[in-house]
Amino acid sequence: MQRMNKSPVISVEQLKVSFPVGTGWKKDAIVPVDGVSFSIEEGRVLSLVGESGSGKTTIGRTLMGIVRASGGKIRFYDQDVTRIRGRKLRDHRRRAQMVFQDPYGSLNPVRTVAQHLELPLRRNPQPRNAPISELIDELLTTVGLTPVEVMRVKYPHELSGGQRQRVAIARALAVRPKLLIADEPISMLDVSIRAEILQLLMGLRDTMHLSYLYITHDLASARFFGDRILVLYGGQVMEEADSETLVEDPRHPYTRLLLAASPGSGHVGLLPETSNQSPDLSRSRQGCPFANRCPLVMDICRVERPQRTKITEGHYTSCHAEA
Ligand SMILES: Nc1ncnc2c1ncn2[C@@H]1O[C@H](COP(=O)(O)OP(=O)(O)OP(=O)(O)O)[C@@H](O)[C@H]1O
Ligand SMILES: [Mg+2]
Repeated sequence: MQRMNKSPVISVEQLKVSFPVGTGWKKDAIVPVDGVSFSIEEGRVLSLVGESGSGKTTIGRTLMGIVRASGGKIRFYDQDVTRIRGRKLRDHRRRAQMVFQDPYGSLNPVRTVAQHLELPLRRNPQPRNAPISELIDELLTTVGLTPVEVMRVKYPHELSGGQRQRVAIARALAVRPKLLIADEPISMLDVSIRAEILQLLMGLRDTMHLSYLYITHDLASARFFGDRILVLYGGQVMEEADSETLVEDPRHPYTRLLLAASPGSGHVGLLPETSNQSPDLSRSRQGCPFANRCPLVMDICRVERPQRTKITEGHYTSCHAEA
């Protein structure tokens, strides 16, 4: 179904993050996010895909203001949130929430399920003047933690991984966010319950009017959940398209490699991998970050960064072989 184009909840332009590394005369910096741009419209899901170390979590943390951008711009609705601090930052963090990969580490072992939800509910204005206990029960029902009278009093160690992730999701929802950044929310869960959690997140998109940045290294779930997919490598965007197009008509050699590695994709053997070297994240790097592993590499790839090229409306790739 074709949906109406809406205003972006978040838009990111040429985002750059750098971290200092080394000390003394060896002092340098790595740039794990280098010129990343995207936007997410209301009610939409953007999947951010890339292998370990490609900069996915760093992007999520930067959108939350946990990590400072060293370049570029982040806009939340009409507000520039790139460099906000203090109260403005606290307000922003209410509208954007993050759910993490590890549901075991993200809950407090000495607090009950109800206590995890009580604090954010009390601290944030709620749409109606109901008793907190009623709001807690509503949240628990929303995320499928029932019967509520049993779940309310449980401690994290009494819950399964999937149930803990539901508590983490309920806690994020308690502040009524507009954007949920879900950072590999199912990768540490048993395979049997991954689909359930993704279904829950999909349902919340409609009932809670949420938009998502869905971070994953798995193209199958990126396609299942995302309206659009952004493929990241070495902190740069390799390809971007609506989910169907990206999977059916991949143009960047790295996307094709990811697809070939994705079980049941029908793309097995699409491209040989020439090396498993990790990308250079140094400040002084040149060219395409994928050049060292690319089966189609040309001389220009090692010296000149490829421009973003339009394939069709909404489908872009950054590859000299496509330019
Ligand atoms: N605070 C930091 N200081 C220095 N380097 C960092 C910091 N945070 C992340 N990095 C580095 O930035 C790069 C990108 O890390 P990031 O965690 O964003 O990758 P990722 O795509 O989320 O990977 P994964 O799939 O393993 O979660 C890595 O090389 C990482 O070591
Ligand atoms: Mg990560």
